[in-house]
Amino acid sequence: MAGPNAMEKKLAEYKCDTNLAITLKLVRFPEDIEDDSTSFHPEYSHQTFGDDEVAFGYKGLNIQLYYTAGNLSTLFRVRYSSKVTELFDCVEPDDVESKIREIIPPGFTANTDDFISLLEKEAKFEPFGPLLHSYTVPNEEAGVLTYQIHKADITCPGFQEYHGRLQTFLMWFIETASFIDTDDDRWDFFLVFEKYNKDGETLYATVGYMTVYNYYVYPDKTRPRVSQMLILPPFQGEGHGAQLLEAVHRFYCGLPKVQDITAEDPSDNYVNLRDYVLVKLCQGLPSFAVEKLHLGFSADMIKEAQDKLKINKKHARRVYEILRLRATDMSDEEKAREYRLEVKKRLFGPYRKNQRELAKMRKCLRPEELVSHMGQMDTRTQHEELEKSYQLLVDDYRRVIERLAAHA
Ligand SMILES: CC(C)(COP(=O)(O)OP(=O)(O)OC[C@H]1O[C@@H](n2cnc3c(N)ncnc32)[C@H](O)[C@@H]1OP(=O)(O)O)[C@@H](O)C(=O)NCCC(=O)NCCS
Repeated sequence: MAGPNAMEKKLAEYKCDTNLAITLKLVRFPEDIEDDSTSFHPEYSHQTFGDDEVAFGYKGLNIQLYYTAGNLSTLFRVRYSSKVTELFDCVEPDDVESKIREIIPPGFTANTDDFISLLEKEAKFEPFGPLLHSYTVPNEEAGVLTYQIHKADITCPGFQEYHGRLQTFLMWFIETASFIDTDDDRWDFFLVFEKYNKDGETLYATVGYMTVYNYYVYPDKTRPRVSQMLILPPFQGEGHGAQLLEAVHRFYCGLPKVQDITAEDPSDNYVNLRDYVLVKLCQGLPSFAVEKLHLGFSADMIKEAQDKLKINKKHARRVYEILRLRATDMSDEEKAREYRLEVKKRLFGPYRKNQRELAKMRKCLRPEELVSHMGQMDTRTQHEELEKSYQLLVDDYRRVIERLAAHA
């Protein structure tokens, strides 16, 4: 009989990394189903399979979640080469099927022929809601591809079911994703579609989307707050995120009741995208003209960004810092120093607050309880932290400036 170590080794062979085991696909043509080059995998699966992102009990586990490209009708199958019960009949494998069923809505199929029939119905699939914006992207094969951004809400027939399928992708690509309650009519949905040709007909493929919640602001305003944004992985890095965010901004700018646009717990990549879009929008405003930038962040900038583009003060300040960096010759020591001081002054705000809190704390302690050089150490650490924050921020700003130059 196998000893404990040999047994552990054997059992370990039945552990699978769920980020690799889950295979996702957006299917346009029947041949895509068997074509591995159209597959992609989750970045996260911890919300479904726990922090280790491991499923136990199978060798060669393959959890297939294939979607028709437009309507996202779903084929869900679990495949594996062997199960742990074939070797150890007293060991239970994880119930991966139930875990996936918890997040995908009912109505999926497990049968390839049924899925192919659903694929044939894709020609009838139309984007939900009115068209907000259309744009083209050069493409090697097609010459040029056309994309459309639509604004949908829960009153669009079939939208709620479609959204239920679409939002399952959040679990795989946003670390802290959660599903939303679509019954609340304060949600707005913005969807991106690609137009493509199949057998001489024009079809629509889902590219990505954004959800925005309209918060009420006393007495008669609203503050749209971006909740989640996802561009599906096969379409990332082609400028769709920027197009979507810009279209959404332009949409809300046209509504007088909107105070400003915010975001819920924004991730770093969202902030980078937003910086790029907001700088693009603000760079033509008179108050952000190059000759005004060196005079500092002004009330005119705050007002113009707010009135014309519904951008709040904090975001307008970042726009100013990026535009000023772009307009500053950083090889000129004096100018570089001025810029550094200007940005660090803002970054120093929270550190100053810390310092005040520390001073208050000190008053409550007996002198002998204070480590004699604590103050000095704090100041040094704080300077180091400040320098680090400044460098990271300027690196981000430089990436935005490079992107603006590349896609002017
Ligand atoms: C973050 C996310 C929404 C960005 O969408 P995206 O479509 O990949 O974004 P873009 O294509 O506009 O920008 C990405 C890159 O494409 C480049 N790009 C390519 N073509 C471009 C074009 N025509 N115009 C502008 N940028 C273009 C940009 O330079 C940018 O490069 P960078 O990352 O080095 O700055 C997307 O990656 C995503 O959904 N990620 C997972 C979920 C997530 O993190 N959501 C955000 C928080 S909720």
